[in-house]
Amino acid sequence: MRIDILTVIPELIEGFMNESIIGRAQKKGIAEIHIHNLRDYSTDRHRKVDDYPFGGFAGMVMKCQPIDDCISALKAERDYDEIIFTTPDGQQFDQPMANELSLKKNIIILCGHYKGVDYRIREHLITREVSIGDFVLTGGELAAACMTDAIVRVLPGAIGDEQSALSDSFQDNLLAAPVYTRPADYKGWQVPEILLSGHEAKIKDWELQQALERTQRLRPDLLDH
Ligand code: ADE
Repeated sequence: MRIDILTVIPELIEGFMNESIIGRAQKKGIAEIHIHNLRDYSTDRHRKVDDYPFGGFAGMVMKCQPIDDCISALKAERDYDEIIFTTPDGQQFDQPMANELSLKKNIIILCGHYKGVDYRIREHLITREVSIGDFVLTGGELAAACMTDAIVRVLPGAIGDEQSALSDSFQDNLLAAPVYTRPADYKGWQVPEILLSGHEAKIKDWELQQALERTQRLRPDLLDH
């Protein structure tokens, strides 16, 4: 899978994309992530990517030209399944959306900035608008990084243990059960007996009961789905 991220601050996400699971998935050839600096596409001699809004509103607006040229250049190379814009007024990102997007071949994520982007970009080029939550970030880079992380980690082979991504919280609308590692007794803090029993069926049952209990207590809304 290939993800192209369009941003005015590439430095904000470059490091993140080369580390940990995403970095490894890229080295293994499971995911290809390309970060594009929108200033490189600006025809302005000062590489400007924003301008004052019509109507005299406050703040700056991202111009059409650099975004349109960058997207056109990418589209000339390959077909894209989705062109996503990160914005607080978009559709709420969640695990089903991460799973769905992980099945796509090529996607573009445009990171919003300033007061927003010229609305014509949203009308003519964007296929999906996505928010990572009901709060306003300074820019869409962190949203793009969150989305990319959630998408890449469910790609087959991205995580060592194949089962691991599937047993994440939210994959079945349940929060994950607690996990423990050695020692079984740390300063008198005990690991639940059942986990030391070696009884696989009982452990599975315990895991499910824990997941149900935690979901009921912490996120009862998930059980309504
Ligand atoms: N840009 C600013 N805030 C955002 C949010 N909550 N989600 C996605 N993109 C954003």
